[in-house]
Amino acid sequence: MRRITLINGDGIGPEISNAVAKIIEASGLKIDWDVQTAGADVIEKEGVPLPERVLNSIRENKIALKAPVTTPIGKGFRSVNVQLRKELDLYANLRPCKNLPNVETKFDNVDIVVVRENTEDLYAGIENQIDENRAESIKIITREASMRICKFAFDYAVKNGRKEVCVVTKANIMKLSDGLFLECFRNVAANYPNIEKREILIDNLCMQLVQNPQKFDVLVLPNLYGDIVSDLCAGLIGGLGVAQGANIGKDYAVFEPVHGSAPDIQGQNKANPTALLLSAIEMLKYIGEFSYAQRIERALFMTLKAGICTADLGGVSTTDDFANAIIRHL
Ligand code: NAI
Repeated sequence: MRRITLINGDGIGPEISNAVAKIIEASGLKIDWDVQTAGADVIEKEGVPLPERVLNSIRENKIALKAPVTTPIGKGFRSVNVQLRKELDLYANLRPCKNLPNVETKFDNVDIVVVRENTEDLYAGIENQIDENRAESIKIITREASMRICKFAFDYAVKNGRKEVCVVTKANIMKLSDGLFLECFRNVAANYPNIEKREILIDNLCMQLVQNPQKFDVLVLPNLYGDIVSDLCAGLIGGLGVAQGANIGKDYAVFEPVHGSAPDIQGQNKANPTALLLSAIEMLKYIGEFSYAQRIERALFMTLKAGICTADLGGVSTTDDFANAIIRHL
């Protein structure tokens, strides 16, 4: 039986984790969940929001499904998410954004996968206060990180039957940093003759995404553009309740929804488990369980098509009702 770390999070985390684990179990797939607590609730007992045992569990199991955890504001703790990415070198942020049945959006037939570089760019945190009136943030782009993220995007495209990979930069202005990213894309692209390639500037991409999002397939971007564009794409398909994600590295992968711990609806059996369920479906594909992934995805789509959904999507179902409806459709 496959052992997978389950970080059930806090806030709405435990509610949506239970729903998702129940749905996977009902599909017939046996998973040995190694349940690990993290976040605000464990600080009191263990002193830190991400104890070493959680990292060790992921190192051992290689794969984790993670519900959201609260980052306490102003208490000097590093975000659990940032720490996970750093400690496990999860260099690729993967955000598949696809329309769901009955989820009202401005556009139909959106099916975009955003691949964001997760480790450098302006997020490397290298900042200087030059004097009282001037500050600088340094944008770091390296050949090593750019090559591996571009390779990740092409490998993802091949593995998932996608047609095109499009690189997004501002290489006309930042000729050295974004220029290097673009050069790496071209070098990597040469090894994938069956995948179409495209190059676009970030400003042009943003305009086209809000006019014709159907024209895009897999996007690969440096960290800052990737952060912004992945949220834009999440908005295209219906927002937080349905936006899935994953952080993936050479050795480990952590699958998690984009949304936070939603303390405003915690404990009310109201939370939408769809984003975590979609993250779990992507995880099943990643570990090669394609048929279970497809089966659960189909049951989710049929449930939504039947007009069954939680309040954030305009429905009346509780978290449990929604999960039970998916189970009935399996
Ligand atoms: P949030 O995503 O938790 O909530 C924003 C709004 O969306 C709220 O009104 C909430 O009720 C709603 N919402 C979010 N997910 C939902 C779901 N599945 N079903 C129905 N409604 C949903 O963002 P917020 O309030 O800014 O952050 C709350 C906490 O979550 C913070 O401590 C933050 O640090 C943490 N956080 C954790 C993340 C993670 O673990 N990956 C990611 C983002 C935030």
